Amino acid sequence: MSQYKVLFVCLGNICRSPMAEGIFVELVKSRNLEHMFFIDSAGTSGHHTGELADPRMRKTAEKHGIKLSHKSRKLKFSDFYDFDYILAMDDSNLADIIELHNGSGEQVFICKMRDFDNLNKGANVPDPYYGYEDGFEEVYKILKRSCSQFLDELLEGKIRNPRL
Ligand code: 4NP
Repeated sequence: MSQYKVLFVCLGNICRSPMAEGIFVELVKSRNLEHMFFIDSAGTSGHHTGELADPRMRKTAEKHGIKLSHKSRKLKFSDFYDFDYILAMDDSNLADIIELHNGSGEQVFICKMRDFDNLNKGANVPDPYYGYEDGFEEVYKILKRSCSQFLDELLEGKIRNPRL
C-alpha cells in the first residue's frame, strides 16, 4: 500500500495538473521511491474528459524528457478517500475542491501547489490555455520548483499525514 497518495488538480486536467503529475512522477522515480507513492491528477470541470494533455503542454514536457500519457478526468467525491494530499493549481480550483469536500468529514490535506514555491509562495499557477507558447514553459518551471519542494517537505516529515 502506498504511503503517500497525491492528487494534482486544475480546471481542465489537460495543462497544469497533468504536467505537475508528470514532473512529480519523474522526481519520485529519480529517488527510486515509486513503491511509496500513488500519484494522479484531475480537473474540476469535466469538459476535456478522456483527452490527452494539450499538445502544447505535451511538447513542453517532452522537451524536458517527460512523456504525458494521462487522460483527463473529473475530480470526484471518492478522491477524498483515495488521496491524502490534494494540490490545487489556483484559488478557483481550491474553492471548488473545498466545496466538493465540504461535509465529507474526510481528513485530507488540501492546499495550493505554490504554497511550496519559494519564489512566489501561495500564488496561482497561471492558466496557460488561452495564452502564448512561452506560458507553457513558465508553467513547467513553476511546477518543477513547487513539486521539488513539496516532495522534499513530504519526505522530511514536515507535512503531517492527515490520516494519522
Ligand atoms: P488546465 O487549463 O486547467 O491547466 O488544464 C485549461 C484547460 C482548458 C480550459 C481551461 C483551462 N478550457 O477552458 O477549456
